Amino acid sequence: MTTAKTAIVTGATSGIGEAISRSLIAKGYNVMMAARRADRLESLAQELGPNADFAVTDITKRSDVISLADQAKEKFGQIDAFINNAGIMPLSFFKSRKVEEWDRMIDVNLKGTLYGIDAVLPDMLDRQDGHIINVASIAGLQTAPGFGVYSATKFGVRALSESLRQEVAAQNVRVTLISPGTVQTELFGTITDNEILELIQAGLPYEPMKPQTIADAVLYALSQPGSACVGEIVVRPTGQGTMS
Ligand SMILES: NC(=O)c1ccc[n+]([C@@H]2O[C@H](COP(=O)([O-])OP(=O)(O)OC[C@H]3O[C@@H](n4cnc5c(N)ncnc54)[C@H](OP(=O)(O)O)[C@@H]3O)[C@@H](O)[C@H]2O)c1
Repeated sequence: MTTAKTAIVTGATSGIGEAISRSLIAKGYNVMMAARRADRLESLAQELGPNADFAVTDITKRSDVISLADQAKEKFGQIDAFINNAGIMPLSFFKSRKVEEWDRMIDVNLKGTLYGIDAVLPDMLDRQDGHIINVASIAGLQTAPGFGVYSATKFGVRALSESLRQEVAAQNVRVTLISPGTVQTELFGTITDNEILELIQAGLPYEPMKPQTIADAVLYALSQPGSACVGEIVVRPTGQGTMS
């Protein structure tokens, strides 16, 4: 057990979550990484050293998320920050009727985020200390055709984050919402709707951000004095005027 602060990062196997995990280790945190791909978690944990550990976790399973929190406490003592980052984005038009993908987005992006909050909030309230950071999207601020269900989950994450912030403010628990614009990650690989894929293949009229830009936003929120709660951060590529 160490005296360093401990963070749990979901979705640590790629993109934004991997960048957050690397940055937190570099800042001296203990990091418990969570995702489903065991091989990636294992090699990242080996690379990051003794302050990193992992728990193979499917955030759609409440029991997995509770085990994740238990494992972090057992290994590192207490959980100071929970970064609810894992998410999927199988964009589709409603007419394509990809109902299983709608269900999955609700399960991962919305219910998974709730399970993370549930797993760590009681201890944070008892200790009167802790920080929950939820990664939403600019799709939680505006929407467009093809973004409907993804946007609904991210509008939902924004709403629950603000409600949670108001509820726990007096108990000294901080809640931060991070809303990124487009970031270069594996997220677009979850799309199966051919019409959306054709639009994406036409290329973006701007340069997407690097995952590190969002990791830096997380570090900013975490590094403020305990008396300051960064409520929301929105970061877009400079050239991204609208959603698409
Ligand atoms: N990239 C963007 O343009 C962008 C913009 C705005 C917001 N975001 C948000 O940023 C967050 C991170 O996405 P990313 O861009 O870094 O995408 P990514 O590279 O595809 O990473 C997604 C992560 O989520 C994990 N994940 C997916 N389903 C999971 C499940 N059921 N249980 C546990 N982990 C799961 C994946 O790991 P496993 O497959 O190993 O489980 C992976 O580590 C998401 O919430 C996304 O909505 C991204």
